[in-house]
Amino acid sequence: MRRPVMAGNWKMFKTQEETRDFFDAFEKLVAASTHCDIVICPPYTAIAAAKAASRGSQIHIGAQDLHWEKQGAFTGEVSPQMLTEAGCAYVIIGHSERRQFFGETDETVHRKVKAALEANLAPIVCVGELLAEREGGRTEAVLEQQFTGGFGALTPGQFSRIIIAYEPVWAIGTGRTATPEIAAEAHRFLRGLAAKRFSPEHAAAVRILYGGSVKPDNVKGLMAQVEIDGALVGGASLDAQSFASIVNF
Ligand code: 13P
Repeated sequence: MRRPVMAGNWKMFKTQEETRDFFDAFEKLVAASTHCDIVICPPYTAIAAAKAASRGSQIHIGAQDLHWEKQGAFTGEVSPQMLTEAGCAYVIIGHSERRQFFGETDETVHRKVKAALEANLAPIVCVGELLAEREGGRTEAVLEQQFTGGFGALTPGQFSRIIIAYEPVWAIGTGRTATPEIAAEAHRFLRGLAAKRFSPEHAAAVRILYGGSVKPDNVKGLMAQVEIDGALVGGASLDAQSFASIVNF
């Protein structure tokens, strides 16, 4: 009953020309794929090119971050309204790379989620533990902290419009995917938090994606878990053929 989402996070890869080349190949490969929502999140500079290239298809465009204000003296930042104008329907918030390298906190995640919803963007909010946190037995405490700080203060109506991405940091870009069982266990825990904070109905409805070294050869096993509602894909989303195989799992 939860519609899968397959989202590609291109990170800091692809020029506008490379974006057009990707869409030329990718569009044909997923033209018949109606079983899931397909989202591509290019860097800011390629959003307009991606939007133009995806016109007439069912592929949605998302951004990788945003600022919470509509406009202002915030050098280097981009507002939610600018993203919608450029053609975005989705936005990734709180990616672990932003948390680790750019000072993202649960507090800024919370502000960004609210601002994104106000601008009618669908937030894909990332949570996930570091390797040391998993090995130290703190995975659930970390996820609970990120859940509560990032979206615990939303209204039930707002919460029903977000997508959660569970991305264990130790699995990102490492080729070390979480086993389907480990991922499903974390998803179940997050759903439990949603039931406690919001309601069992909200918990049953919220879509939780897995991210971290998702590849064409491991996506089937992950998607076989009822708890896993899709994938947030980095490296393997850069190649049209490989991301299309993931979409068409
Ligand atoms: P990889 O698929 O390259 O591990 O990246 C995952 C990710 O960070 C998606 O947001």
